[in-house]
Amino acid sequence: MVIAKRVLITGGNTGIGYEAARQLLKAGHHVIIACRDPKKAQNAIDALSPIAKASGTSVESALLDLASLASVRKGAAQILESHPRLDVLLCNAGLLSRSSSADPLERSEDGQELTLQVNHLGHFLLVHLLLPALLAAPSARVVMVSSELHRQASKAVTIGGGGGGSGLLPLASAEWLTRLSAAGGGATSPPLPRPTGFQLYCISKLYNLWFTYCLAAMLPSTVKVNAVTPGWVPGTALGRGMPWLLGLVYQFLFPLLPGTTSVTEGGRRVVAVCVGEQEGAVTGAYFSRGVRTESSPESHDKEAAGEMWRLSEVATGIKHDYVQQLLTSTPTPTSAGTDAL
Ligand SMILES: NC(=O)c1ccc[n+]([C@@H]2O[C@H](COP(=O)([O-])OP(=O)(O)OC[C@H]3O[C@@H](n4cnc5c(N)ncnc54)[C@H](OP(=O)(O)O)[C@@H]3O)[C@@H](O)[C@H]2O)c1
Repeated sequence: MVIAKRVLITGGNTGIGYEAARQLLKAGHHVIIACRDPKKAQNAIDALSPIAKASGTSVESALLDLASLASVRKGAAQILESHPRLDVLLCNAGLLSRSSSADPLERSEDGQELTLQVNHLGHFLLVHLLLPALLAAPSARVVMVSSELHRQASKAVTIGGGGGGSGLLPLASAEWLTRLSAAGGGATSPPLPRPTGFQLYCISKLYNLWFTYCLAAMLPSTVKVNAVTPGWVPGTALGRGMPWLLGLVYQFLFPLLPGTTSVTEGGRRVVAVCVGEQEGAVTGAYFSRGVRTESSPESHDKEAAGEMWRLSEVATGIKHDYVQQLLTSTPTPTSAGTDAL
């Protein structure tokens, strides 16, 4: 017997998020895909609806652009209104920019560096706003999609100017969040070496782990918080932004290489952490290749993670100690409302 879960997936219109939605629906779960583009969302709903119908479950979309904190707030309010209880929040949406260190920083509408906002800050805010729905479930999970590339964040880059001194700054530093925000001086810095899009991606994936471990330590045992990497999955659209020929080679020929993972298998690994029995028995864990795995030493740096948390609260306007305050005011959930299929 499958207990049907209500699963919200960010970036569920394509790639691993779409594949996870497909597998979850097939297994009899209800899915909400949170997307930034209504047209892409509708295309995904059209493709997923027959699967939902066949399994007697449901799929719907919610509009939410992680590059806009206002959009995250609006989307989260609408989700809370229609879904006061959520069983799984899968933070999957992500961006890997191809920018070089000579390129100007790409910015969100909030003036934040775009990769850090989409991959980290937008999700940081979304999880905070949806916590009441997760706490209302008898047993809930937050799943952060990180990457093995978080290990590359141990490298350092040369920095200079821009009101932050100069020298070597390890990528595994929470300071990037303010250094690269428009308010933090990044916009006015002279064009000295900056992180590349790839380096920013590695930082953001380390932040995903810091967030996972901090949140897991704060929440009661009814909410498990874990991170997962799907593996190296070149068959998704993450390679967009590459020159078109390279992009085609990456998306269609790279998946044939040994060591790469198919979209189906990548989705399966993510789905396991969302609804798998074993994976639901732990919190504050990282899963790679389908098994619990030790993440990088930097990912266990509690001081850096705490600083990242504090800076993220400031950047998103979340009140300090919001989680603790919410926990003291939230009643313990009952098991009512779970559909048994
Ligand atoms: N592919 C890999 O090799 C690999 C390896 C390790 C980890 N991952 C992680 O897996 C996750 C999914 O990646 P993928 O490979 O499936 O990439 P993908 O095919 O490019 O899908 C990314 C998803 O994120 C959404 N997204 C991007 N920016 C957004 C924004 N501002 N607001 C809301 N949604 C946004 C995209 O929506 P649009 O379609 O509208 O752009 C899309 O639905 C990412 O977190 C990635 O870091 C991937």
